[in-house]
Amino acid sequence: MKRWIAIALLVVAACGSDEADPPATEPEEVSFPSGFLWGSASAGFQVEKGLGNTDWGKWVKTPGKIKDGEDPDVGGADALAHIAEDVALLKASGQNSYRFSVEWARVYPTRAAFDADQPDAAAIAAYDELFAALRAAQITPFVTLQHFTLPDYFSDPSKPEEPQGWERPEIIDAFAAWCGRAAARWGGAVDWWATINEPMVAPVAGYIQGAFPPGLLLAVPRALLAGKNEARAHAKCYDAVKAADTIDADGDGKTSLVGIVQHQRAVEPEDPDYPDDVAAADRVRYVNNMWILNAVVRGDWDDDFDGNLDGPNDKKGDPALAGRSDYLGINYYSALWASVNGIQVPVINAGIKQDRLLNDRPKTDFHWDIYPEGFRIILDEVKGFGLPIVITENGIADSRDVNRARFLLEHLYELGKAQADGFDIRGYFYWSLLDNFEWASGYCPRFGLHTVDRATAARAARPSAQVYARVAASGKVTKKEIDALPPYVPPAPCD
Ligand code: FCB
Repeated sequence: MKRWIAIALLVVAACGSDEADPPATEPEEVSFPSGFLWGSASAGFQVEKGLGNTDWGKWVKTPGKIKDGEDPDVGGADALAHIAEDVALLKASGQNSYRFSVEWARVYPTRAAFDADQPDAAAIAAYDELFAALRAAQITPFVTLQHFTLPDYFSDPSKPEEPQGWERPEIIDAFAAWCGRAAARWGGAVDWWATINEPMVAPVAGYIQGAFPPGLLLAVPRALLAGKNEARAHAKCYDAVKAADTIDADGDGKTSLVGIVQHQRAVEPEDPDYPDDVAAADRVRYVNNMWILNAVVRGDWDDDFDGNLDGPNDKKGDPALAGRSDYLGINYYSALWASVNGIQVPVINAGIKQDRLLNDRPKTDFHWDIYPEGFRIILDEVKGFGLPIVITENGIADSRDVNRARFLLEHLYELGKAQADGFDIRGYFYWSLLDNFEWASGYCPRFGLHTVDRATAARAARPSAQVYARVAASGKVTKKEIDALPPYVPPAPCD
């Protein structure tokens, strides 16, 4: 028998059939269950005014720190003065949930007020009004207890040489006290709580990249200390919320679901053919995507961030940390490149690049890759934790609204496929309801389903808000509807 015929016969025998399997087909349609949370997300400092008594409030006043010197108090969305309007926007765009933060420094403007537990009456009234408006509109609140900003009495970027914010040991119990008080006050309105938004992003941006307060470069030990204290603060906050929120706000039998919100990137080696870059990507993925989840879900404490638990201060299954997440909050936007070339971050021993990646993927106005398939990569990474997942952020900077509908549907399609494959996904929050203050980039990147006029704060829906409304109403995304959309066009970067 000729050799190639023998090989062909062997292949057929191995397949157990005389016909080759058809290639895997993509589903025509994906669907989401009823009760799925369809929402959008925001953060206090990005849409409120009057948070000058935070580290970020001080930071934005520091010359050179924010693009074009912009400031959320000038030309911002002023959300607490537009509550009825924003709730109407949520309704009109078909959303049944809203993720936002309650601001620690607004409720307790001074250390004395915090120590004496004397909350600010106007702050309480404003948040009460927001909760009441959401309830009246039957919109489920999803509340973040800390989204990057800290009160200036714990974090003062004018003294970067001193321990800041999460570096200070006393902040762990103070944060837990804030969580417990917020949960006691609003537990009747809230069942979904998120403790800390993106605990790895703030230390990396603040101590390694210099883009967030306290604005240091490559101060890795301080960044890691901040990250460790966030893990401990999260665990104590979890316990405090569980103890204080004993009211089932929506009648589903649960009083509180408490989780942490992680920013997960699809981490790739800059050169996939270079083993050192592949190893660098493994290290970055571990530190960025996994370290804190290992700590607060399994109680596995890798004190030296070296990827194993055999160090002198490492601990497996620490009961003070384990089991402190009822769900995983996942923010997914894009990919990230790791490499052993360029500026190396000590300890992780890798260089990191997250924008302007040199590949052929389409880009957002923020120069991030548009990479819907990456969704599945980061979901697969957290599958082993066995917890329900909420997509707490996903969105695109697209000032002209030319790519948003495709971005939204392609990402939801990937999510729907993951759900069909067994992932327990409870909700999706688009970032963001409104154009807002994008941290160091000021008002430049426009993520909103709605625009905000800088002079009048008037809101207007972008066309993609109606695309979102249609998906939320039907609970379905079809391939046909994605294929009918125009292809991605090059971004309109604002810098
Ligand atoms: C996330 C932040 C959010 C916003 C988006 C674009 O990392 O949580 O506040 O800045 O990115």
